[in-house]
Amino acid sequence: MKIACIGAGYVGGPTMAMVALKCPEIEVVVVDINEERIKAWNSDKLPIYEPGLLEVVKECRGRNLFFSTDTRKHVGEADIVFVSVNTPTKTCGIGAGRAADLTYWEGAARLIASVSTSSKIVVEKSTVPVKTAEAIGKVLKRNCLDPNVQFEILSNPEFLAEGTAMEDLRHPDRVLIGGADTESGRKAIDTLVSVYAHWIPRERILTANLWSAELAKLTANAFLAQRISSINAISALCEATGADVQQVAHAIGTDSRIGNKFLNASVGFGGSCFQKDILNLCYVCESVGLKEVAEYWFQVVSMNDYQKQRFVERVISAMFNTVSQKKIAIYGFAFKKDTGDTRETPAIDVCKGLIRDGAKVCVYDPEVSPEQIFRDMSTPKFEWDRPNYSRSQSHMLDNVQVVSDAAAAAEGAHAICVLTEWDEFKTYDYQAMYDKMVKPAFIFDGRNILDHAKLREIGFIVYALGKPL
Ligand code: NAD
Ligand code: UGA
Repeated sequence: MKIACIGAGYVGGPTMAMVALKCPEIEVVVVDINEERIKAWNSDKLPIYEPGLLEVVKECRGRNLFFSTDTRKHVGEADIVFVSVNTPTKTCGIGAGRAADLTYWEGAARLIASVSTSSKIVVEKSTVPVKTAEAIGKVLKRNCLDPNVQFEILSNPEFLAEGTAMEDLRHPDRVLIGGADTESGRKAIDTLVSVYAHWIPRERILTANLWSAELAKLTANAFLAQRISSINAISALCEATGADVQQVAHAIGTDSRIGNKFLNASVGFGGSCFQKDILNLCYVCESVGLKEVAEYWFQVVSMNDYQKQRFVERVISAMFNTVSQKKIAIYGFAFKKDTGDTRETPAIDVCKGLIRDGAKVCVYDPEVSPEQIFRDMSTPKFEWDRPNYSRSQSHMLDNVQVVSDAAAAAEGAHAICVLTEWDEFKTYDYQAMYDKMVKPAFIFDGRNILDHAKLREIGFIVYALGKPL
């Protein structure tokens, strides 16, 4: 059996590496149009940072795992084609700011159709709107020149989280496979089940109809993000009332119906998917006339924006209502620890908010490159920001500095903002930081990971999310 995966990104790369590791008799080729990315996958400096990934890639690469830009050849030869291309939010036209942009997906489908001389199972790995399989089916069928070629489409959404991707792939809570309830659909499901069954207990491989599988992915992300927005909303109330959000989270999390995971109040959720997938869900709801349902889910995104804005306002108001010309050290730029990914990271909005009020931010992150930070700080969130684009771009970059160690960021700073929960931030010598900072020295812990009592003993003014002063 030969598997090809279109898209060598955060999902395609790690997922296929795990398939290759666990199924040594299957040839797995990951293809991408991005030559640089493929070159990096073929080197020891992989294009993404994910604990444990390099070891697996090294074990399988050249054996039964390959990375290539020759999409036509490998897709043409494959029996199963995973499609793991990006599905970002549309930035212009109808549905801009909400609907999923399926340009890349359709491009992949057209490619599959044009090179197929044998029947294939096409697997939706990307997160897509409900009913995408129907549209893709039409593109495949109408563009394939060989009438004997059959395509069976399966939905196999990915639930891995960045930073723990390899562990999530090795021991997933479940694998979900949706397919058509026809003889050929069931046969295709069985084939994909047999791939995962190499290492995943059969009872954890769930099967469903296509639309349920597609919708389950959007729903899972919406529920996860909703928990964070819910606890973040409560964090605001805690600050106003003297309650402690960690104590509240612990108290409710011991109720087994609620559970204790995903209840960490934060400066806001980030990552490439939560916001995009909820907006996508809202758009699907609106498209079928469910305005109230769309509004309900949209609140999760609104609350997240509010939390980021609230954090910025808190910093400014604490620092005597002015951050003008003040150096502020930013600890962490990635959207979460153990990843170098900055897509939709709350750090972008927080830094931009502080700079708009005149601050100079000095960023330290153990995994994010200075180039990435400068790129993020100069890219407008939506294209309709364009009229101010060049002005805001230069203004932003003039006020961003990136350094390679945390002590340098603190030197001469008025405040430290912790925006990512990197473990190393807990181990620093904060007395040494304090000695180098302008007084009064502030710490704003946007992740509640530091020892606040100890910091106060040193002399810091500490603001923590959802905690009494
Ligand atoms: P990504 O941007 O890291 O990777 C996508 C890759 O697809 C890019 O390298 C791009 O060059 C390539 N590509 C696009 N069109 C192509 C084409 N026609 N032919 C060949 N290559 C093409 O994206 P990602 O983070 O891996 O996400 C992929 C999908 O998986 C998205 O739909 C996302 O919502 C979903 N998802 C992501 C995560 C995550 O943690 N990042 C988790 C679960 C699901
Ligand atoms: C998330 C989901 O957890 C995955 O199941 C899903 O496959 C993936 O999105 C996707 O579809 O892309 P990911 O975004 O990689 O994974 O990371 P999470 O651990 O979910 O964190 C997302 C954001 O929420 C981060 O910014 C994180 O710091 C924040 N978060 C998480 C909190 O603020 N509080 C929490 O309690 C948990």
